[in-house]
Amino acid sequence: MIPQSFIHDLLNRVDIVDTIDHHVPLKKAGANFVACCPFHNEKTPSFTVSQTKQFYHCFGCGAHGNAISFLIEYSGLSFVEAVQSLAGYAGIEVPVQSGKISSESASSNDLSQNQEFNQGHGNDEVSSDELINAMQMATHYYREQLKHSGKAIAYLKTRGISGKTAARFAIGYAPAAWQNLEAVFPDYAAEKTKKILAQAGLIIINDDAKQYDRFRDRIMFPILNQKGRIVGFGGRVLAQEEPKYLNSPETVLFGKGRELYNFFSARRAIREANCVIVVEGYMDVIALSQHGIDNVVATLGTATTGIHIQKLLRQTDNIIFCFDGDRAGRKAAWRALENSLELLTDGKYLGFLFLPEGADPDSYVNQFGKESFEKQISQAVPLSEFFFKELCAGLKLQTSEGRAKLVKDAKPLLQRIVAPALSLILKRRLAELSELADKELETLLQIKRIPETKKIGGNERKQAVTLYRRLIRILLDDPSYVTKLDRGLLVKSDAKNEEIAALEALFEFFDAHPNLTENNSVFSIAGYFQNNPLKALLESIECETLEWNHSTAIESEFSDILKKLRLMQYKERITELQSKSLNMLSDEEKKELQQLVKQQ
Ligand code: UTP
Ligand code: MN
Repeated sequence: MIPQSFIHDLLNRVDIVDTIDHHVPLKKAGANFVACCPFHNEKTPSFTVSQTKQFYHCFGCGAHGNAISFLIEYSGLSFVEAVQSLAGYAGIEVPVQSGKISSESASSNDLSQNQEFNQGHGNDEVSSDELINAMQMATHYYREQLKHSGKAIAYLKTRGISGKTAARFAIGYAPAAWQNLEAVFPDYAAEKTKKILAQAGLIIINDDAKQYDRFRDRIMFPILNQKGRIVGFGGRVLAQEEPKYLNSPETVLFGKGRELYNFFSARRAIREANCVIVVEGYMDVIALSQHGIDNVVATLGTATTGIHIQKLLRQTDNIIFCFDGDRAGRKAAWRALENSLELLTDGKYLGFLFLPEGADPDSYVNQFGKESFEKQISQAVPLSEFFFKELCAGLKLQTSEGRAKLVKDAKPLLQRIVAPALSLILKRRLAELSELADKELETLLQIKRIPETKKIGGNERKQAVTLYRRLIRILLDDPSYVTKLDRGLLVKSDAKNEEIAALEALFEFFDAHPNLTENNSVFSIAGYFQNNPLKALLESIECETLEWNHSTAIESEFSDILKKLRLMQYKERITELQSKSLNMLSDEEKKELQQLVKQQ
């Protein structure tokens, strides 16, 4: 086990530019170094390495991390190997701590090993590594069981799955008994093992503290994360029973809103085809793959989220959603469309394919074959078309009211599209459909009917979001600012805002790691949020600091943010006080109001 303090030291002593340049020749570009990204195919360099901040970021595929994660991702080293390799390079010896795994130790090949701060710090805490290990052992066991279950094999045969395909997807079978896993995990009943298995979602502990397997008599589909580690399972019944699929519960490692089935294995095929097909079911992915269509991923029984879409758009310019032709399928497609609006850029293509009613990709490809399915894909409806088709459905466009409703429904959606050309083209189409002149429509789309008092709040809130983002940027660049910050200035917001959540997470993190704020350490803070849903946001903000250089006036940026936060707080309080009628205010409140107005 490697002490965390050693890892900080190590990262401070090696230079990430040297480390990476050794494998991928870097070129100086302004304050940073660049190269064509080693993690995805590209012709112009968007892989950027910061010497001052000691992290890399690819503006193309989003790869992001420090020297250790580079070696892990690029050379396929384990965490310990990467640390040893770096230490060897720097000519220092890796100290080894004995004892139990603690939050201060490093023992995994996953950077998250020493980032368990948000799960508590006790020695008994289950680490990501232990969870993954349990998942792996279970997968191995389920696969072995499949070999011995005539019934499960027969079922897969009826679904047209070959032995080769089953092996490629590591499909297994969980036998019908209640405590199968007892034979798999040697100290099954030990407190620690129980905790790991329960957290991994492999067992359930009932009210009498009895433990039993979650998955029984089910075909098991392991779900891999982006790094190829097993983080969850989907388990399907063999007969007609409910629920048809049982999935692993959400864990630190596994979130249905983040993971996509087959994403890891499909990455290469997605890049080669420059297109990904998104389907709804495990079986759809597997059937298509068996027919030679490998650039396919599936959502895990949830709506397609913005995070899903963001992940996919980093790998490819083209996404085709292939959903069932029924109402549920159209609804799922619409949700995907809604969640993609902010993420679209000109040059990206989203298509929607609805198979004939009653068919899903699995049944379709088995019945009609690969060519026929590919022909369907080529006939997918582009987002622009699906957008208006859905909005117009059920409206009487020959009436003024129908056209007015169309504009009203389209407005909030169009406002979310930032891609300049797409936005213009859709607006023009809306003008045609609503029989308005482009100019008239433009004014309509801009008018915000917000009452005067609310308007202040609304604008301020919006501004607050960017203020928080600016604040996060500073903290990521120089954690020592966390001690200069008056946390009382952060308006308590009930709105669920990712940036506020990220700030709170950062506070918690810095509080738990005071040495980071003292020593002015220079490395990727986002790297510590490996299995955290906020990681993507933090990385995207952290990479903004790449454009900063020594002359960037952080101090004045910081004081500007504080000033604006303070002002915002005044304004919110004024609005609050003013919303009471004057004779309802206590003398004290009246005084406060006067003061506030003056200060403002
Ligand atoms: P489907 O019923 O379309 O799945 O549900 P499928 O893969 O086509 O199933 P079969 O084997 O051919 O009948 C789509 C997805 O929704 C989730 C699963 O992720 C499934 O793959 N789901 C479905 C559940 O999580 N639970 C359920 O009970 C049903
Ligand atoms: Mn199906």
